[in-house]
Amino acid sequence: MNADQARERVRELRTLLNKANDAYYQEAAPLMSDREYDRLLDELRRLEEEYQFFSPDSPTGRIGGQPTRVFPTVTHPVPMLSLSNTYSREELDNFDRRVQNLLGHDNYSYMAELKYDGMAIRLRYENGRLTLGATRGDGTQGDDITSNIRTIRDVPLTLTGNYPEVLEVRGEAYMEMAAFAKMNSAREENGETVFANPRNATAGTLKLQDPAIVARRPIRMFAYDLLLEDEDRERTQKEKLELLDKLGFRVCEHRSWCPGIEQVHQVIEKWGKLRTDLPYETDGVVVKVNEERYRDNLGQTAKAPRWAIAYKFEAQQAVSRIQGITLQVGRLGTITPVAELEPVLLAGTTVKRATLHNEEEIQRKDIRVGDRVIVEKAGEIIPQVVNVVLQKEGERGEPFQMPETCPACGSELVKLPEEVAWRCTNNQCPPQVRSRLEHFASRDAMDIDGMGVAVVDQLVSQELVTTFPDLYRLSAEDLVPLERMGEKSASNLVASIQKSREKPFEKVLYALGIRFVGITVARDLARAFPSIDALMSATKEDLLDIDAIGPRIAGSVRSFLDQPDNREMIRQLRELGLTFKSEETAAASEKLAEKTFVLTGTLPTLKRSEAQEHIEKHGGKVTSSVSKKTDFVLAGDEAGSKLEKAEKLGIRIITEKDFFEMIK
Ligand code: IVH
Repeated sequence: MNADQARERVRELRTLLNKANDAYYQEAAPLMSDREYDRLLDELRRLEEEYQFFSPDSPTGRIGGQPTRVFPTVTHPVPMLSLSNTYSREELDNFDRRVQNLLGHDNYSYMAELKYDGMAIRLRYENGRLTLGATRGDGTQGDDITSNIRTIRDVPLTLTGNYPEVLEVRGEAYMEMAAFAKMNSAREENGETVFANPRNATAGTLKLQDPAIVARRPIRMFAYDLLLEDEDRERTQKEKLELLDKLGFRVCEHRSWCPGIEQVHQVIEKWGKLRTDLPYETDGVVVKVNEERYRDNLGQTAKAPRWAIAYKFEAQQAVSRIQGITLQVGRLGTITPVAELEPVLLAGTTVKRATLHNEEEIQRKDIRVGDRVIVEKAGEIIPQVVNVVLQKEGERGEPFQMPETCPACGSELVKLPEEVAWRCTNNQCPPQVRSRLEHFASRDAMDIDGMGVAVVDQLVSQELVTTFPDLYRLSAEDLVPLERMGEKSASNLVASIQKSREKPFEKVLYALGIRFVGITVARDLARAFPSIDALMSATKEDLLDIDAIGPRIAGSVRSFLDQPDNREMIRQLRELGLTFKSEETAAASEKLAEKTFVLTGTLPTLKRSEAQEHIEKHGGKVTSSVSKKTDFVLAGDEAGSKLEKAEKLGIRIITEKDFFEMIK
């Protein structure tokens, strides 16, 4: 490589890594795997050093992302450093040798802890109360996301035991895999974009502007570091973790005190095998010098301490060959390209298919039929193709091109301006009809017993059913000719279809499969508009008055209800006797009848949803914005502009205590 080529490569790497950084930190959606990122960063660092190409804004010069603009910025008094990574045992031994050389003795020990794969957060407590929760940002400055952090149940709002006046805790926010998978499949069902893995879901969630939504996501936290102001240098990491436990934090039980590096190797060995049994993701083991006073001697570089290192496990990857690229049509018509692979064993299961995400991804990586590729399963529920390892001319197919028409029904595909995915807009497209029916019959929706995938498949392919109303017109005789359907199961199925007519309005709303309307949104809608007539006549603005509903959901509901086909479908379902009205829920009292409340800030004990429930139970109503029609503003800590507006309009502002008095 000559200097020009090096300069060109450096430019290329910087652009790519900056993009990857933004995708990771700002948009919380990854462009590449960690390993690939580390490898490219390493290459860039070497080139910059060899050719003396330095630039203050090179990705080699910063730790992570920059703070996003929407939250107030906080400066970390003690920077939140990064860790040096290693992927090999030899490097780990080198680390130990360096520690020993720098200290000049071997009286130190190590703590080996799991490396949780989530997002670092910093918590500050004053007089035992949580006063700040922040992201790492670039290590020096991060976002103040206190109101989001408060919604994490593992984060104590007040401390227990004997606590010093001021203390800071650092830890990892993350999601457990099962909860992540459940959340993602609900999102997929609702036509929302799915998160690539639990880590991105966590990062994406904690940067949301609405803590009420954050509260509904399954975020957890492990504490791994404690910062005290007392300067007791005799303390050890082991003791700090025990203290954290006493103060009320969740500390991972899988931590080991190791007298020397040999024991660390054993711990790594163990978790390399057992890590897939854990309910959460761990991508390595963090090895830390246990004694605080030795840490002081070892110090740190600009980015990482010299007293700690992260040993990273190999990602769960395998190499396979792409035999074909097929297209999958989702419930709402989204077309996802899928790689059909030569079967390969990966983390205990045989993988035959892996997602290629979308057209842009395939083109960016130039993935073609015949290529050998790396398939990865790193928390993602569906394996994904990470990269091409071998492209052999002659064995390769043509560059991938999205067809212009739907592979299932032949209708023209469209791509909306802000989206990466192509969609089939034909409502009657068979795979869409199939997944709509599956969703309609699913447990959280109409819960129709005996209407599994195989039955739905036949109902659609035999053209017995194309719309929901068709289901309710089926007779046992229609069903008997289907495969593996006796007379008994046919009449059972008809009975459970008919019985589903009793399902409450909110379930029906959810079952309709309106984009972005999951179970919770359906419930909120049914509460605010207790009949389909009320909902049909609601304007987009009326919909936006519901707390959890933003423009995206409101727009989707409105456009669903405006489509003539859907109106006709709803008319028929009504005629067939489905429930399109909420049952009158008996109010506990009428103490707050006709009263309109606006909630703002964090209340001392009640969650927003709980306060809303109390208000509604007593006949009151909650709206999202303050106007002349507002009777009370129930305000908690850190109340913002709503409070100001209420003051201006002379509306009564009450505390949680006042509120309890009112409903007592
Ligand atoms: S200690 C000086 N312990 O790894 C840094 N970090 O690359 C002290 N992480 O952003 C970090 N599990 O969020 C530490 N048991 C653990 C960890 C852990 C995960 C994350 C941390 C940090 C990143 C460092």
